[in-house]
Amino acid sequence: MGGATLDDLFESHARDDGTPCFKTPAYVYDLDGISASAAEFIAGFGAVSHLVAYALKASTSGPIVRALSDVGCGATVVSGGELSVALASGIPAEKIVFNGVAKQDWEIDLAIGTGTRGILGLHVESVEEVERVRARARALGRRARVGIRVNPDIEADTHQKVATGHDEAKFGVPVEDLALAWEEISTAPELDLVGLSCHIGSQLTQTTEMLRSVELLLGMAREREVSGGRLEYLDFGGGFGIDYGGMREPPPPPAAFAAAIARRVADSAFADRLVVVEPGRCLVAPHGVLCASVVLAKRTRAAVVPRRWLVLDTGMNDLVRPAMYGAHHRVEPMRAAPPGPGEGLPFRVVGPVCESSDDFGEHRFTEPLPSRVLLRDAGAYGFTMASEYNGRPLPTEIFLSKGVVSAARRPRLVEGWVDEQIRM
Ligand code: LLP
Repeated sequence: MGGATLDDLFESHARDDGTPCFKTPAYVYDLDGISASAAEFIAGFGAVSHLVAYALKASTSGPIVRALSDVGCGATVVSGGELSVALASGIPAEKIVFNGVAKQDWEIDLAIGTGTRGILGLHVESVEEVERVRARARALGRRARVGIRVNPDIEADTHQKVATGHDEAKFGVPVEDLALAWEEISTAPELDLVGLSCHIGSQLTQTTEMLRSVELLLGMAREREVSGGRLEYLDFGGGFGIDYGGMREPPPPPAAFAAAIARRVADSAFADRLVVVEPGRCLVAPHGVLCASVVLAKRTRAAVVPRRWLVLDTGMNDLVRPAMYGAHHRVEPMRAAPPGPGEGLPFRVVGPVCESSDDFGEHRFTEPLPSRVLLRDAGAYGFTMASEYNGRPLPTEIFLSKGVVSAARRPRLVEGWVDEQIRM
């Protein structure tokens, strides 16, 4: 995405064709790109029976969830809110798994009470949670389909804030407690033990760690089934990394991850079971950009290091990843091509928020400076993590299909935001 058509969305002159005009900051998504990424990823599994359960935490916006549902994706959810969006977007209950360390009674009820037999699997993350799910199934007079999320104790090579499968993490049942959890679920008359799952972290850049977790999960499944019970599915989680630009070793394409997992499972005693994966980022991040206007360009001349700054109307309130994880997002002129290597001048690109971490890093620009820029690969964990910090209402979302606007979420206006604060 980029070029004249994107810029046109924000032109303020009157339009003959009635196309709506938007204001920055705005997330713009290419729904066709999202569908194509999902189709490619799905194809990577070949003949192995699979379910690509899109992790809604990456983006819960209806047009995106519907696009993924239309190409056959299921859903991975972590709250009753996400579960409701998945169901209302047309994802069948039997294609949904539910993770989370703190599921509340109403969320458990929604998961096991929906459809004829509830969702595909409610993943317990502790031995203690088994009793809670059992009590809810009893109260509803339903059977609950339960999976166990195992913490495989793998230190994934990613940012420490998104590594989830090591022994210090709050997630999953530790390997040592797996036999106990298995026993408790298998002997409960209200529960059906249907799956084993794990998720070792996000933005994984190699297949090696993912395959290690596949190996471990296969081993655990084999060992546990000897003691009785038969699993319907094995769920290897999400975490398929993408290239945010400038990476020394970009990750393999998601379909290569899929093919590697499929090959390993096809060669195992579990070749006839359903393989579930939970990708979020790789399906949507590359197909979303955050569009912003340049408020001003300034120079600090007297400082120890003289600097040029590009100050935008968007910041960590709209896209928190750089401030939170030191993440890199390419910042480019909206209309012109980005400067080639060595061209242009370095600018420190920052937002309006009163924190030094409100900083998108150094990027090069040529004169004349752009009036609007885009931040690339912002489709996942962008809008869903946005806040109204510093009195800045949530940004616009614009969804493109076949190059035209097919849906939009209008921002809450500043007036509405002010009203909400003072009415209480
Ligand atoms: N399944 C589970 C159990 C997860 O915890 C996650 C992500 C996923 C699947 C999807 O992972 P993905 O394929 O998107 O990597 N806010 C961070 C990412 C946090 C991911 C949390 N869990 C970021 O902006 O990088």
